[in-house]
Amino acid sequence: MAGRHFLQIPGPTPVPDRLQRAMHRQMEDHRSSTFPAFTRSILSRLPQVVHQTRGEAFVFPATGSAMWEAALVNTINPGGRLLAPRFGQFSHLFIQTARNLGYQVDVLEEPWGEAADPARIEAALVADRGHEIQAVLLVHNETATGVTCNVEAVRAAMDRAGHPALLLVDGVSSIASLDFQFDRWGVDAAITGSQKGFMLPAGLGILYLSEKALARVDQCTMPRAYFDIRAMRANNAQGYFPSTPALSLLYGLDEALTMLLDEGMDNVAARHARLASGVRAAVHAWGLRSCARRPEIASNSLTAVLVPEGQDARRVIDLAFTRYDIALGSGLAELAGKVFRIGHLGDMNALTLAGALAGVEMALCDAGIEVPLGKGVGAALAEWRVTA
Ligand SMILES: Cc1ncc(COP(=O)(O)O)c(C=O)c1O
Repeated sequence: MAGRHFLQIPGPTPVPDRLQRAMHRQMEDHRSSTFPAFTRSILSRLPQVVHQTRGEAFVFPATGSAMWEAALVNTINPGGRLLAPRFGQFSHLFIQTARNLGYQVDVLEEPWGEAADPARIEAALVADRGHEIQAVLLVHNETATGVTCNVEAVRAAMDRAGHPALLLVDGVSSIASLDFQFDRWGVDAAITGSQKGFMLPAGLGILYLSEKALARVDQCTMPRAYFDIRAMRANNAQGYFPSTPALSLLYGLDEALTMLLDEGMDNVAARHARLASGVRAAVHAWGLRSCARRPEIASNSLTAVLVPEGQDARRVIDLAFTRYDIALGSGLAELAGKVFRIGHLGDMNALTLAGALAGVEMALCDAGIEVPLGKGVGAALAEWRVTA
């Protein structure tokens, strides 16, 4: 099809030309004497993305799921007990990863479309008088449902309970797009990948650890090999990596950091909030509902839209793809066929998103979900117009 493809899934997100150019280069010796300056350019700036001033950031050739494992095996002893709310497919998979590694996970079930409940987390930690629970696993932004949790409120609940558990946060679809306050929220591990807010192809796993988590790394008795932070840390201190780094992606990451930090992380978060408000206005104008059950937990990086009872969201997604060249996210697990997801994170502005919403409107009508053409787009434009 002529024109540009609209990649409107919540990751991987479109890779800006500038980042594609930064990655398009010859390989080089990653053990050369000049390489450490490059490594340090990345590792010294990564923390600014999440407002981290204490602790360290690490980059692996891997993806977000691998960083779940890296966070766990470096900080939690074999068989350790964990606490985790489950409210969507990614919180489910985080829990499954922990169980597959032999950890015991106490699960707090929440309806999909809801967020983690700090009060329930507090109650579970208060009940754990012996302080057996070693960490709380929290997905900040549940990409399956388009729900954002209040990490700060979860940290406050943990503090009220006076519990020493670590707070391990999945920020795969929040970091580098939504506000993420690593220090202020008392996060011990933050997990992400390169293919969402960082606007790169998949292939880098990024892990932020607090000083408290780093202290656990050395004491932890869990067997680990590739994801051993001790080896990564020792090599990074010299400006190198323990194995061959994903050079092209690192060049992309270096440039992505320049783009993000030039825009300013507060501005990045504000841009995503503004874009999301337009998408929500469009959903409302279409007479549809978001999967997120309450406006205050609706995600600014993606919106999962429920189709009316008796309709199949897969048909909307397929028509959008085949007729209008726009890729929408599908419903995952129990949401299959019930939702389509509009990604609005990364290299995105009001005009690109207006085009995407136009594609969604046409596909909805084609699928028999009649929405007055232009109504959703118009509602979004009213949100986005600069009137000042
Ligand atoms: C919230 C969340 N966590 C984890 C993952 C898994 O990350 P990856 O696919 O990079 O392994 C995803 C992927 O979409 C995600 O959205």
